[in-house]
Amino acid sequence: MFGRRVMVVGTGYVGLTTGACLASLGHEVVCADIDAGKVERLRRGVVDIVEPDLAELVSEQTSAGRLSFVVGAGAALGAFEDSRPAEVLFLCVPTPMGAGGVADLRAVESVIEEVGAELAAGTVVVNKSTVPVGTAARTAELLERTDVAVVSNPEFLREGSAVKDFLGPDRIVVGSDNQDAAERVAALYARLGAPTVLTDAASAELMKYAANCFLAMKLSYVNAMAELCERVGADIGDVTEGIGYDRRIGQAFLSPGPGWGGSCLPKDTHALLQVADSADFEFRLLRATIDTNTRQRQRIVDKVRLAVTGKRTGSLSRVRLALLGLTFKAGTDDLRDSPALAIAALLRQAGADLVGFDPMLRGPGELDGITLASDAVEAAQGAEAVVVLTEWAEFRTLDWAEIAGVTKQPIVVDTRNIVDPATPRRAGLTAVGLGRQQDTVHQT
Ligand code: UGA
Repeated sequence: MFGRRVMVVGTGYVGLTTGACLASLGHEVVCADIDAGKVERLRRGVVDIVEPDLAELVSEQTSAGRLSFVVGAGAALGAFEDSRPAEVLFLCVPTPMGAGGVADLRAVESVIEEVGAELAAGTVVVNKSTVPVGTAARTAELLERTDVAVVSNPEFLREGSAVKDFLGPDRIVVGSDNQDAAERVAALYARLGAPTVLTDAASAELMKYAANCFLAMKLSYVNAMAELCERVGADIGDVTEGIGYDRRIGQAFLSPGPGWGGSCLPKDTHALLQVADSADFEFRLLRATIDTNTRQRQRIVDKVRLAVTGKRTGSLSRVRLALLGLTFKAGTDDLRDSPALAIAALLRQAGADLVGFDPMLRGPGELDGITLASDAVEAAQGAEAVVVLTEWAEFRTLDWAEIAGVTKQPIVVDTRNIVDPATPRRAGLTAVGLGRQQDTVHQT
């Protein structure tokens, strides 16, 4: 069953990970991208995105002769050994959400225009991007080929652990109205031994949204619960540990934070709301999930204001704040829809002067009105509070005594609950977290 000829169009997060990982499973993979510079870099093993193990895997598989890169989908067609045709074509091109919840399929259209007529009979076209229900059907319409099947095979990998997630998936989902094509795609992953859900295309497409929106709901619930903990004198760490032992709930994805962000959860929650709207279904639970997340950002700003000024409202004019962590989560350099940046924008609106430090964005420099420092201590210089926004491991072991020596007010607001409050406290700082009994200063 192994050693299929696989063409992957698009070498973003999902496309490149898919290409490199499928090659590592023994398939012959040709990846195409329209960016000639990127293709040239990938041929040399240079990967532009920060993703553990990906560059190593690309180099390893390229050297092993199972992975190659070409410019443009057309070039991929003739790039397999002995000029044999591709058996599977993965579409991993951007499908941004357009107005009314309809995906903008221009990138898919242009690939189909370029190679659709050239595909060998029996080729399977696979959609891996997150797309609205009905996209597989629309892709089939665009293809106008009765001898080429379209399959939806959503990807569930996370940024920062893409390779690990791809090669150790919780499940594989393959949806198509053509059972044989679905089984052929599922067989590509057989070596992974993961549970496989074979379904129709619409269910596979919906499943991706259902998963991401459920995760978002879990986080909004935890963030709301953290707020309740503060009000009733409970501890969110203990509460989540306790509920997480219930296997129906699970320990994962229960950390409170500044709100969920990134390139997927915000986009997908809004997209599913639009899908629901267009199906005349008022998805109140999902709307509340999104609203809770929006409110969470303001709640963090209020918490900082109260800690620094002792007031629940009012300006933060001329208040200097050190922001630690700017990416949407640790382990990535991705700033898309980062809660840290959203909170920074609100703090700036309130008048604060912001100095930021992120391991992926070392200063000197400037980002969205935030002055970038080259380390946490430099960021903390003269600050009235140090606000931890991203859960980088190095923030757990900061030298709080050194930080306490340079700040104007000895306050830490930890929006990820990653700093053991005892450590800054020993250095004379007060530590405010989420959903736990706070130090001295004023509480929300
Ligand atoms: C998410 C999903 O987890 C993946 O399964 C999915 O494949 C991907 O979207 C996608 O659709 O492509 P990702 O966007 O990489 O992955 O990020 P997550 O690890 O899910 O984190 C999302 C947000 O939730 C981040 O802002 C993170 O800091 C926050 N988060 C996560 C918490 O606040 N607490 C947690 O316990 C976990």
